[in-house]
Order: sequence, then structure tokens, then C-alpha cells
Amino acid sequence: MNQQTDPLLTVDGLRVAFTTAQGESAVVKNLSFSLPRGGSLGIVGESGSGKSMTSLAIMGLLPKGGKVSGAIDFDGVRLTDLPEKQMRRVRGDRIAMIFQDPLSSLNPYYRVGMQIEEAYRSHRPGASRKEARKVAIAALQRVRIRDAETRIDHYPHQFSGGMRQRIMIAMALTMEPDLIIADEPTTALDVTVQAQILDLLAEIREETGASLILITHDLAVVSEVTDDIIVLREGDMVEQGPTEQIFCDPQHVYTRRLLDAVPRIDDEIGTLRTTDITTVGEDE
Ligand SMILES: Nc1ncnc2c1ncn2[C@@H]1O[C@H](COP(=O)(O)OP(=O)(O)O)[C@@H](O)[C@H]1O
Ligand SMILES: [Mg+2]
Repeated sequence: MNQQTDPLLTVDGLRVAFTTAQGESAVVKNLSFSLPRGGSLGIVGESGSGKSMTSLAIMGLLPKGGKVSGAIDFDGVRLTDLPEKQMRRVRGDRIAMIFQDPLSSLNPYYRVGMQIEEAYRSHRPGASRKEARKVAIAALQRVRIRDAETRIDHYPHQFSGGMRQRIMIAMALTMEPDLIIADEPTTALDVTVQAQILDLLAEIREETGASLILITHDLAVVSEVTDDIIVLREGDMVEQGPTEQIFCDPQHVYTRRLLDAVPRIDDEIGTLRTTDITTVGEDE
């Protein structure tokens, strides 16, 4: 297989539907895209447009009743045909997901280090506690959490929202994923902290060579992070192209509307990126 040109992920004619009392309704309709190795893709659209269902379909984690058709190929393997047991390995070892609310993914009663260690050991069953702790500390340092050796023994509530999201990214990193899917990872955060997390994701992608799917309702979020964007509206892909092209020359009126919702985008992002570099890692 050609590692250079072969896409890491190909989605072809994806459809996700639910059966309700009113009959079957498709929430993702005929979606096709591909993501190169090391590439990054933004999936943008208003709330309810099918972004999360797309990512959950890729992960094989659709809520009950969700029916998938079409093909999802990941590194030469057709995920849409994969038995659950093998799919679990893909999720544990190769595709990491980061969600909007880190608190829902972190157990409040366990120290964060313990949770990172458990995540690591679940896909490296042979790893010792000691090794797992080392990996966890390194991961926390990698996401720029200061005093990682001390902070590792703190509980989730002892961290700010931005720091908790860093912890989730650290957890994802311990499995050295080929693909990171971040679903609204900054939506619950202040604008300043948002920019820090986005910078961190971009950095990590560069350092690790992992591919990234960044899902957001806010076009401003993807502007500096992703190579390409697809725009979803009520389950339909209305636009697809290089990020710059979509920002400079949106073809669809819906994309223009999304752009209008971020009027101060150049300003806001530009200023944040220059002024906040010194405060990275100190959002609490
Ligand atoms: N379990 C479910 N049963 C039926 N419809 C659902 C279910 N979960 C989500 N939906 C519908 O699917 C559509 C897309 O949802 P979602 O992908 O979560 O949107 P987004 O992430 O873009 O905000 C929404 O209209 C939502 O109401
Ligand atoms: Mg969503």
C-alpha cells in the first residue's frame, strides 16, 4: 500500500438514519469525503446538522436504533463491516475521541493520573503500573500541564475546564492514535482558552503526525487548524473544500451565513494567537 497517497480515512455515501414514530428519518445523507494521512478536516454546521452522528458512525458508537449504510474505510479496513470486538480495538488503539465536556468522560472520584494510566493499560495490557504512570506524566507534560508529577494525583474538579480538556487530550495521546476526532472540544470554554486548546491540537498533530477531524458549529474554530472543511446542513453536505477557499469564497448561502456569525474572526483569532502565547498552560 502506498503510505503517501493512500487516504487514512474514506467515507463513501454515508447515511445514518433513525426510525421514529413518524417513520425513518436520515440525519446524515450521502456523505462522502476522504482524509489524507496526517491531514486535518473540519466538519462544520449548525446544531443538529449531523456532525456528531457522523463521528459516532466512524467510531461505531451510534446510539441505539441508529442505522448506518455506505462505507467507512480506515487504513484499508472497512469499519462498517467490522465485528464489534475488532472495532473495540480500533477505538482503543487507533482512533481517539475528544468530546465537548471533559467532565462527562472523567470520573470525579478518581485521580486524573489513575484514569490516564487505566486508559493506557487498557490498550497495553502488559504495561506495569510504574510504566503507565511514567507515560501519564509524560502525556501531561506534553499537553503543557505544569508540575505534572504533582498534578497527576489531583482530582478532576481541581482543574479548570481548559485544563480538563488538556487531560482528555493527554489521555488520547497515550494510545498514539492515527486519528483524533475532536467533537466540539472548545465549545464549553472561554474564547482565550479555546485558542490555547486549538493551538495545542494543531501542535500535537504536527508533532505526532496524527490526522485530525475537528467538529464544530463555529467556523472560527477551524479557520487556523484544518486543511479542509466540509459544511453540513441537516445531514447534507453543502460545501467542501480547502479551508482558505471556503473562507474567501464560500459557494453556498448557508456557508456565508455561518461566516456572518463570526464577524470579528480575523481580529479575534489574530489577537488571541499573538497575545496568549505567553499564558499557555496558565488558564486557571
Ligand atoms: N438517538 C437518536 N434518535 C433519533 N434522532 C437522533 C438521535 N440522536 C440524534 N438524533 C438527531 O440526529 C440529528 C443530528 O444530530 P447530531 O449529529 O448530534 O447533530 P450535531 O452534532 O451536528 O449538533 C439531530 O436532528 C438529532 O435530533
Ligand atoms: Mg454534536
